[in-house]
Amino acid sequence: MKQDFLKYQAQTGPTPLGIEVSHARGSYIYDLDGKSYLDFVAGVSANTLGHSHPKVVNAVQEQAASYMHVMVYGEYAQGPAVELAKLLAQQLPDSLSSTYLVNSGTEAIEGAMKLSKRATGRGEVIAAKHAYHGNTQGSMSLMGYEERKKAYRPLLPGIKFIEFNNEEDLKNITTKTAGVILETIQGGAGFIEPKNNYLQKVKKRCEEVGALLILDEIQPGFGRTGRLFGFMNYHVTPDILVMGKGMAGGMPIGAFTASYDMMAQLKEAPKMGHITTFGGHPVVAAAALATLKELTTTTLIKQTLEKEKHFRSLLVHPLIKEIRGKGLMLAILVENAEVANFLVLEGMKKGLILFWLLFETRAVRITPPLTISNEEIEKGCNTILELLNEWNNQNVN
Ligand SMILES: Cc1ncc(COP(=O)(O)O)c(C=O)c1O
Repeated sequence: MKQDFLKYQAQTGPTPLGIEVSHARGSYIYDLDGKSYLDFVAGVSANTLGHSHPKVVNAVQEQAASYMHVMVYGEYAQGPAVELAKLLAQQLPDSLSSTYLVNSGTEAIEGAMKLSKRATGRGEVIAAKHAYHGNTQGSMSLMGYEERKKAYRPLLPGIKFIEFNNEEDLKNITTKTAGVILETIQGGAGFIEPKNNYLQKVKKRCEEVGALLILDEIQPGFGRTGRLFGFMNYHVTPDILVMGKGMAGGMPIGAFTASYDMMAQLKEAPKMGHITTFGGHPVVAAAALATLKELTTTTLIKQTLEKEKHFRSLLVHPLIKEIRGKGLMLAILVENAEVANFLVLEGMKKGLILFWLLFETRAVRITPPLTISNEEIEKGCNTILELLNEWNNQNVN
C-alpha cells in the first residue's frame, strides 16, 4: 500500500511517516502488520474522544442510515446541525449565539474573515507573526511566516502583522481594521499562551477602534485546555469564534460563531454572502453533536488539567528544556531540531506517535485524545525518557 500511497496520492512533504493503517481504537492505531502505536497526537488534535469512540461511531452510522446530503447548506432544517448549533450556543457566552458550519478549519477562517469585513465595512485584517490559520489563499495570507507563503504570492492584500503578546503593537489596530485574528494559544509557533491579560487588552483596543476580535480555537477548542474553549481560561469573549479539528471526534468540520445580528448580515445585501454545499453535513454534524454531548456530560474536560500535571511530573529530563501549553495541548521543547526529529522518528519505531509543530523546530507535540488513561500517559512518557537517554548515549560516545 505504501508504494501506491507515494505514487498515486499527492504528497505534502518529501518524507511522510507512512504508517500503513489497518484500524484504530481508543488511544491506539494499528498497522497492517499488527503493530500498535500509542497515539500522543490524536490526528493533530482532531480525535478528541480517541479513535472510533462508540458514541461517535453510533451517531455516524445511525445518521448515515437515516439521511446524508439532502441539500446545500442553509435551505432545509436538518436535526443534527440544528441541535449542534443550539447546544453550542447554550455552552457559549450569550453574544456567541449563531453558528455557521463548514467543512474544515481553513474554510471557517475564510468565513470569519469575510464576516469581519462585512460587519465593519473595512478591508484590513490583522494577524500575528508566526500565526497559522490554514492553507487556502485567504488563510494563508494570515500566515505569519513568509518562507512558507512566498511561493504562492500574490495573496490577499490588506493584511498586517503584530507580534503576539506584544502590547506595544496594539497601536497598529486602528479604525481601518476590520478584524484582529489570533490563535488563543499560538500552535505552530510553539504553543505560546497569552501573557499578562494580553487577549483582554487586544479586545479593549478592538472596542476602542471598532474592530472585531476573531479567536481561532481550531487547536485549543473542544475541551483540550480545561475548558470547552481556550478563551474561557483568559476572561475574554471574541466577537467571532472559529473552531474545527476536534469538534466532530475525527470527522471533517469547521465552524464560526458570532452574534445573531452579525451573522445575519451574511444572508443579505448581497444575499448568499457565504454559501457551501456540504457545510453542516448531517453525518458530520451528528458526530460533532455526539462529541459535544460527551464532553458536556462527563468530566473529560476537567480531567485534561489533571492529565497535564501527570505529563509534567513524568517528563523531567535534562534534554527537556521546557513544557509549553495547557491541558492536553502540550509541547515539549528540546535542545534542537535534531533531538525533536529523533523523538518523532524513533518514537514511531517504538510504537509511540509524536509529531512536530509547524514553525518551532525544537518542539514535539503532545496532544493525545482527551480519553487517554493515566497508564497510557505513563507508558508513552517512559518511551520518551528512554529515547532521550538513547540520544544522550549515542551523542556522548
Ligand atoms: C490554529 C489553526 N487554524 C486553522 C487550521 C486549519 O484547519 P484545517 O486544516 O482543518 O483547514 C489549523 C490546522 O492545523 C490550525 O491549527
